[in-house]
Amino acid sequence: MKNGSQVIVRPARNVRGSVRLPGDKSISHRYAMLAGIAEGPSRLENYSTGADCASTLGCMRSLGVSWERNSKDGADNTIEVQGRGPSLAAPANALDCGNSGSTMRMLSGIVAGQKFTSEMVGDESLSRRPMERVIKPLSAMGAQIASHEGKPPLRITGAALQAIDYTMPVASAQVKSCLLFAGLFADGETRIEEPLRTRDHGEVALRAFGAKLDRKSSGQGGTGNEVRIRGGQRLRGIEARIPGDLSSAAFFLCAAALFPGSQLTVPSLLMNPTRARLLDILTQLGLRISVTQLEEIHGELVGSLQVEGARLTQATITGADSAALIDEIPVLAAIAPYTEQGIEIRDARELRVKESDRIAAVATNLRLMGAQVEEREDGLKIPGGQTLHGAELDSFGDHRIAMAFAIAALRAEGETLIRGAESAAISYPAFFPTLEEVTER
Ligand code: S3P
Repeated sequence: MKNGSQVIVRPARNVRGSVRLPGDKSISHRYAMLAGIAEGPSRLENYSTGADCASTLGCMRSLGVSWERNSKDGADNTIEVQGRGPSLAAPANALDCGNSGSTMRMLSGIVAGQKFTSEMVGDESLSRRPMERVIKPLSAMGAQIASHEGKPPLRITGAALQAIDYTMPVASAQVKSCLLFAGLFADGETRIEEPLRTRDHGEVALRAFGAKLDRKSSGQGGTGNEVRIRGGQRLRGIEARIPGDLSSAAFFLCAAALFPGSQLTVPSLLMNPTRARLLDILTQLGLRISVTQLEEIHGELVGSLQVEGARLTQATITGADSAALIDEIPVLAAIAPYTEQGIEIRDARELRVKESDRIAAVATNLRLMGAQVEEREDGLKIPGGQTLHGAELDSFGDHRIAMAFAIAALRAEGETLIRGAESAAISYPAFFPTLEEVTER
């Protein structure tokens, strides 16, 4: 889809079928980065098809890492990476992170430990996003970082890093991974404490590539969310199949939740417990979910889901749940008017500094569809039992907003037009055709 593309979504009668998701975005980014600084080759099957993860691969190439897409399996989502070990090559041009906050934040932890200066740039949306959260701790480790008032572009001059003992003020898995990656290059043991336990793909991926990490379990004082990594560890390449992206699956699960007669199967889906809170919330709302074929692949839990729709009741999302569901809240909010008693979201201020201000974007689009919404600084309160009508909506250049409102449109009266629908390709290029395959009209 070209820039400025619009998509029309018609109401549906039901959702049925099977959806196999491209590889998880969070894991794909981390594997691509670690494969680049590992020794030996890595083979990453079912790598995310999203533009964000392509940005990470592009940056790794600029840093001297060779990789190629192998299309022997028919799809070209297997990536073969030739790891070059911890020393990367000075990039000739700025590292283009595109729309991807994950690329900029996590990769900054790796380039901070190099013997050269890197310039990191992003698109208009990324250029508005806060980077202080990585600048401050990486500077404390010894890197020199210039920014535009705490926002991109970043100019990072690498150094012989020193380990730090750091308590993160914001719960962010990107920051945690950034600092764990930097910790690999640091002299001594880096200790990171997070206010809430965020997704642990950085820790799991580092272990898969052969690093040792210590995690303090709760009950030993502090928040119990502490992880430590010793510098100087060498990584070795892996062969992995990346599990289906749970945050992309969220759109289809929420679509199924809208129709009491729906039936959907999602094979080989990521089930990591630090990511799977969505399944609890959907179950609480009324969706019937069963999981089979659970297995662990390189430390990540994977399973197949079968879901059946029923009546949707109500949910309140607060505290640690808001952090755990941060990428799924837009679509949960988009289906909230169709629940019986509504959905309330609190403690989700971080949504305002994502690819768009997602609290404002959700409130604007729901209102355009005729919904009543209470917008708050840190969340939304959306009453249930509402009837929505089709409308002309905007994605605000944000992939999750484009997809969330394609789902809301399935139960609206009349057609919905979504402008800027091409932004879905940031995480899931095949989203709209795949949605068509499972909707019945
Ligand atoms: C991600 C962490 C979250 C999430 C983002 C991916 C990750 O961001 O919103 O889509 O892969 O670590 P924060 O770290 O900013 O919370």
